[in-house]
Amino acid sequence: MTKDARKPGYLHGYSAEEQERLYSQARFLEGPLYETLDFSSFQNLLEVGAGVGAQTEIILRRFPHLKVCGIDASPQQVTRAKAHLKDAIAAGRVELQQADALHIPYPDNAFDGAFCCWFLEHVAEPIGILQEIRRVLKPGGTVHCNEVLNATFFLHPYSPATLQYWFAFNDHQWQIKGDPFVGAKLGNYLLAAGYQNVATTVKSFHYDNRAPKQRAQMIEYWTRMLLSGTPSLLESKRITPELVEEMKAELGRLKNDPDAVFFYSCIQARAQVF
Ligand SMILES: C[S@@+](CC[C@H](N)C(=O)[O-])C[C@H]1O[C@@H](n2cnc3c(N)ncnc32)[C@H](O)[C@@H]1O
Repeated sequence: MTKDARKPGYLHGYSAEEQERLYSQARFLEGPLYETLDFSSFQNLLEVGAGVGAQTEIILRRFPHLKVCGIDASPQQVTRAKAHLKDAIAAGRVELQQADALHIPYPDNAFDGAFCCWFLEHVAEPIGILQEIRRVLKPGGTVHCNEVLNATFFLHPYSPATLQYWFAFNDHQWQIKGDPFVGAKLGNYLLAAGYQNVATTVKSFHYDNRAPKQRAQMIEYWTRMLLSGTPSLLESKRITPELVEEMKAELGRLKNDPDAVFFYSCIQARAQVF
């Protein structure tokens, strides 16, 4: 087998602007994502790759009885999350720690549930991490994952600059040992990590002339998400500033196109430990 020459990294970076984007992303997608996430039977939940606490804020609001323990590998994210959630921390509802998900700083059988969102796409060892999450779940505990499947992205009218950028975005993520297609593999990974009762759901965002306002909002959100990768992509020389401008112009036109179509699917998986 040839040696893997890829080097780990994090596509989006940790700028203040990117941290703010994570809050607005979580709120924008809250409705569709959380309609199929039910943590009401848990007393405590481990959130892995909690970032700046954008999902944590939502979880605390939607499940007011729940105690959440969040970990993230980045000190910048944990600092931001601690400031954002200071009241909930003071109230004893949240605990946040900087930690790598391969070494979760909690004992065996500590949690009723675990959750990760837009996280496994950024890691080199998803099965190892799912095994480590299994270790800290109680027997009968459940893990929920919400992850990308970037092969599903479709736009009409045909948008070559955006597609070229998208290819570079996904290729770069692959080269830094992430996986932009991890959603499709969640079922296999959960089985490989020793879980049972594995179930997956495809969540699709399909906007056309039936919902022009939501379509425009989604394209606006998506543009910001794409641009969050621009500094890393420029630095790695995968794209040019000209391509970024072409993509922005394309998406600007698409937002106002009366016949535009936006389609994207992500995957939610849940599985149990026995
Ligand atoms: C796209 S953010 C998502 C944050 C949050 N789940 C959300 O939806 O807003 C991914 C996060 O995973 C974290 N991360 C990446 N690799 C990690 C690892 N091995 N262990 C823990 N956190 C990690 C990054 O620092 C980043 O904050």
